[in-house]
Amino acid sequence: METRVTKSPRVAAAIIRDGGLVAFPTETVYGLGADAFNAKAVKSIFRAKGRPQDNPLIVHMARMEDLAVVAHRIPRSAEKLIDAFFPGSLTVIVPKHGRIPDAVTAGLDTVGIRFPAHSITHDFLLNCGTPVAAPSANRSGRPSPTTWKAALDELNGRVDGILKGGSSRVGLESTVVDCTVSRPVILREGAVTLEQLREVVPTIRTGTSGRVIKSPGVKYRHYAPSAKVVLVDGPADVGVTGIESAAYIGMHTSGFRRRPAFIQKCRGVDPYAQKLFQFFRVCEERGLKLIYCEKVSSSGLGRALMDRLRKAAADHPTGP
Ligand code: TXA
Ligand code: MG
Repeated sequence: METRVTKSPRVAAAIIRDGGLVAFPTETVYGLGADAFNAKAVKSIFRAKGRPQDNPLIVHMARMEDLAVVAHRIPRSAEKLIDAFFPGSLTVIVPKHGRIPDAVTAGLDTVGIRFPAHSITHDFLLNCGTPVAAPSANRSGRPSPTTWKAALDELNGRVDGILKGGSSRVGLESTVVDCTVSRPVILREGAVTLEQLREVVPTIRTGTSGRVIKSPGVKYRHYAPSAKVVLVDGPADVGVTGIESAAYIGMHTSGFRRRPAFIQKCRGVDPYAQKLFQFFRVCEERGLKLIYCEKVSSSGLGRALMDRLRKAAADHPTGP
């Protein structure tokens, strides 16, 4: 299959309407979309990514009226979150409409919905004229792409098109909130922070408070670089062994005993989040063996960033 790279939201949307697959930019990360009402097209997303069939997809839309064709009903908590954060980097889980194919929701009776804020995404979705089911545009187990080139590297020859946009502004995936339970719960930390959510729905729970049924996606192994990832408080914690094939990302870059081969300095938590996944890709390309990531405080966007950092560090493969 030849993958067509285009700057035109119209051209990309025509591919979706024809039942094809298109990787497209959003402000969080790039997504890999298909017409949400075309079960055959949706199934081909799972093949292109190598994604387990039981991991449901988020449905993206650009018009409020599409809520009625995707959701069976909108619980009160979801309504409040939609009012406050759509369009934006939030996904709410609501009871699904009977028309949504099982392939989208992995047979669940709930569906995740999101209105991305990015203007190109909005244009693209409006031109599609249909809600678009999309996971992140990486092969399963790989970092989410935050540039069109990264999406192309992941999916060249496996999808029909790539809609070219700039780097994703946020760089981490959307926050996923389950609104089908009496006290809404965060299933995945993300771009919209706990503090922001609590201003709108004060009773919202985090996935770590008590026993919570997580998103199917949470049980799968997350991206872990083939390099060893070590979380540190700062440059002073970085050793000297293997430093010639080591990398460092963080907000402080002075005070190393010896400087790592590749250093990514971030001027705050937001730029750190924005750069992280692309940094992992560059480390991989350069064949680096050891990646030091500076810890951040778990507030605001720092919570989602620490979640991704811990996963990258914890899931490090131990065997051959
Ligand atoms: O920022 C994002 O959310 C990006 C962009 C493209 O929108 N999308 C994304 O999709 O990260 P994906 O498939 O990589 O992650 C979606 C997560 C998965 O953990 C999945 O299990 C969960 O959301 N999810 C989707 N639908 C669900 C549902 N009905 N119930 C529970 N969890 C659900
Ligand atoms: Mg993903």
